[in-house]
Amino acid sequence: MAWNKKHLLDIQSLGADEIVTVLDTARAFKAVGERAIKKVPALRGKTVVNLFVEPSTRTRISFELAAQRLTADVVNFTAEASSLKKGETLKDTARNLEALNADFIVMRHSASGAPHFLSRFLRSSVINAGDGAHEHPTQALLDAFTIREKRGKIQGLNVTILGDILYSRVARSNIWALTKLGARVTLCGPATLVPRVFEKMGCRVTYNVEEAIADADVINLLRIQHERQRKTMFPSIGEYTSLFGLTKARLALTKPDALIMHPGPINRGVEIDSEIADSARSVILDQVTNGLAVRMAVLFLINGGQGPQGVTA
Ligand code: CP
Repeated sequence: MAWNKKHLLDIQSLGADEIVTVLDTARAFKAVGERAIKKVPALRGKTVVNLFVEPSTRTRISFELAAQRLTADVVNFTAEASSLKKGETLKDTARNLEALNADFIVMRHSASGAPHFLSRFLRSSVINAGDGAHEHPTQALLDAFTIREKRGKIQGLNVTILGDILYSRVARSNIWALTKLGARVTLCGPATLVPRVFEKMGCRVTYNVEEAIADADVINLLRIQHERQRKTMFPSIGEYTSLFGLTKARLALTKPDALIMHPGPINRGVEIDSEIADSARSVILDQVTNGLAVRMAVLFLINGGQGPQGVTA
C-alpha cells in the first residue's frame, strides 16, 4: 500500500491503516536487518539531514543507521557547532539545508510544533523526531511494533503508561497510536503530572499505581522530564520512587507476562528498579533495536515505497 504522506509530523493525523502499514513495512526491514547484507538501495541518491536541536542518543543514531541501510547520504547537524549559535533562525537554517539538496529533514526541537512550522514552507520531507511535549511519532511506532511483535496483537490489550505524562511527547504519541489500534490505555502518576483532561483522549486516569499495573499487559514507564518542567511537580525524587516507581514488590503484583517498556533514557532506581530494567521481563533494548527497522520503514514509505511488498533485498 502506498503511504501518500510527504511528512511524518505526528500520530494524531494518521489513520490506523497507515500505522499498520508502517508496522508491516518495519517487519520486512527487520528481516532484511537479520541478513548478511543489511543494505537496500531504496534511497540511493537521496540526502537525509538529522537536524537535532535537543540531545538524543537512540533516535538520532537509529535515524542515521536507517538512512545508511537505505543507501542515502546522511548529514548530522550539531546545533551547538552551528550558526544557530550566531543567531541564525531555524527557518533560515532549514532553508539553507534545503539549498544543499536535503531530501529529508529529521528534526528534534524543544518547541512543540517546530516540525509542523518547517513543513509549511520546505520542499524537503520533514520527520518529527520529538517536538517539545507534543509528539514523538517514531517512538510510538516502535513501541507499537514491539508490543505487536511480543504479544502478537495490540487490539484489546491493557497498556499502562506510568510516570510524567503531562510533559511527555512519548505519552501523547503512544496514546494516539494505541487507542487507534484498539488498546485500552491507562495513565498513572502524580496528580500534578497526570491531569484528568487526558481522559478526553480516551484513556483511564488513576493515581493508584497498584490498580494501574494489576491488569496491565504492557507497562510503559516514563522518566520525569525535568528539562520541560517549569516548577517542582512533586516533593522529592525519593517520594516519587516510593509512590510510583516500579519496584520488585510492585512487579510481583503484575501479570507474570506483562511487558516492561521504557523509551529511554532510563533513570535507574527512580522510575524503575535497576534489576527490573535488566530482567527478562524488560523489552527496553528490543525497543531500541526495533527503532531502526521502524525508522527505515518511515523513510522508505515517505520516499514512495509501496509497503512491505516493496522492500527488496
Ligand atoms: N527515546 C528517545 O527519544 O531517546 P533519545 O532521546 O536518546 O533519542
